Amino acid sequence: MKYSDSMANPSDTKAFRAALGRFPTGVTIITGRDPDSDAAVGLTVSSFNSLSLTPPLVLWSISVKSPSISAFTVGRAHLIHVLHAGQSELARHFATPKPDKFEGVSLKPTTDPSRSPELSESCVVFDCVTDKFIEAGDHFLVIASVRQYRGCDADSLLFCNSQFLSVDALSRITE
Ligand SMILES: Cc1cc2nc3c(=O)[nH]c(=O)nc-3n(C[C@H](O)[C@H](O)[C@H](O)COP(=O)(O)O)c2cc1C
Repeated sequence: MKYSDSMANPSDTKAFRAALGRFPTGVTIITGRDPDSDAAVGLTVSSFNSLSLTPPLVLWSISVKSPSISAFTVGRAHLIHVLHAGQSELARHFATPKPDKFEGVSLKPTTDPSRSPELSESCVVFDCVTDKFIEAGDHFLVIASVRQYRGCDADSLLFCNSQFLSVDALSRITE
């Protein structure tokens, strides 16, 4: 293992982003509805994490530049889909701005048109409501309360160093 000689300044945002990208994460697609038009919105998010068991809280962040911000403010319901290892294409799809990201995307049938769209597949889906929406630099921090969830036993999709990885492609460290 080789360290650089000096500490770097985070004002070099390209290098800072690359350093942050060394931290491996899971990948989610978060869906909701625009409060005015009711249109479905969704984006790929790797900032998702657990926050509290009791009460059940999770957190994630959304760029201040996102056109979908109003769908996720305090009191807004949304679905957080933890992606499985076969969903890297879908992750790229929801990370690319386009007028209707849901065109051609397979969704679970629902009788309630006001509900956030649910992907037909995911590792886990958390049904959430935003509890706190906090401005923090160039992102808003979303703290959300989990109402219910369901999961399956598929391997999760991971993201590290700008690359998608599958949990089963990694080597296990045994003590
Ligand atoms: C692996 C990955 C993780 C991402 N994580 C986040 C995130 O945590 N927060 C965020 O605002 N954007 C994140 N993005 C970028 C958004 O998905 C992208 O900007 C998307 O176009 C936003 O959708 P919108 O323009 O419809 O709001 C991520 C992109 C990728 C590929």
